[in-house]
Amino acid sequence: MKANSKIIFSNQPGVHENLEKTVLRHLNSAFLKPISDHTRAAFDDVTSQIAVHDRPLVLDACCGVGDSSRALAAIYPDHWVVGVDKSASRLNREREHSSPENLILVRADLNDFYRLAAAAEWRPTHHFVLYPNPWPKAEHLKRRWHGAPVFPDMLKLGGRLELRSNWRLYLEEFCAALTLAGHRGEIEPYDAGNPITPFEAKYKASGQALWRLTAKLT
Ligand SMILES: C[S@@+](CC[C@H](N)C(=O)[O-])C[C@H]1O[C@@H](n2cnc3c(N)ncnc32)[C@H](O)[C@@H]1O
Repeated sequence: MKANSKIIFSNQPGVHENLEKTVLRHLNSAFLKPISDHTRAAFDDVTSQIAVHDRPLVLDACCGVGDSSRALAAIYPDHWVVGVDKSASRLNREREHSSPENLILVRADLNDFYRLAAAAEWRPTHHFVLYPNPWPKAEHLKRRWHGAPVFPDMLKLGGRLELRSNWRLYLEEFCAALTLAGHRGEIEPYDAGNPITPFEAKYKASGQALWRLTAKLT
């Protein structure tokens, strides 16, 4: 694969100066924005599908075209793997590999889906967020998952959380936000020997460094 992905450029010299203030505000207040009907319906649909067999859960948030979810469904054949993305065009894109029976792909807004999952006491054993949109401009802090009001609900799910990014600062900020919430994350270089998402493949083919953050949210 030939690729020429742009290196991420940010006007931020380091962790955002408002990170602590923003995260603490979200940790200390409820996110009251009404939940959209379409995400509630999508969540109810997933709930009824996973109720058919009692299995542990793997959540693949921001799954894009779902390649990572398919890979995870093969790695965890005894789990339900739920891939969530807001983009119908990505989810519906034709893919080379067929979908295994333990895979559920769902179109939903994670700002709402996370709150529903936390309220329903979902406890995925693994929660992946692979190459989330980086939003590198400083004014876009609140669009990053750790700067968003839903961040506390994301953490309530527990389990082993893994984020991957080609922008180390995103993971450093996420890690700092985890610390503010009483958790500990670790960041390490990630060697995507066998890329499992299109973005991972594209960044690797462009020769970019990849990073991984992991945390056990108990
Ligand atoms: C950079 S892409 C990465 C996709 C995939 N994980 C990959 O590595 O190829 C980020 C994905 O996050 C999804 N996304 C962003 N915000 C979202 C939200 N609020 N709810 C659900 N999906 C969202 C986008 O639709 C997009 O598919």
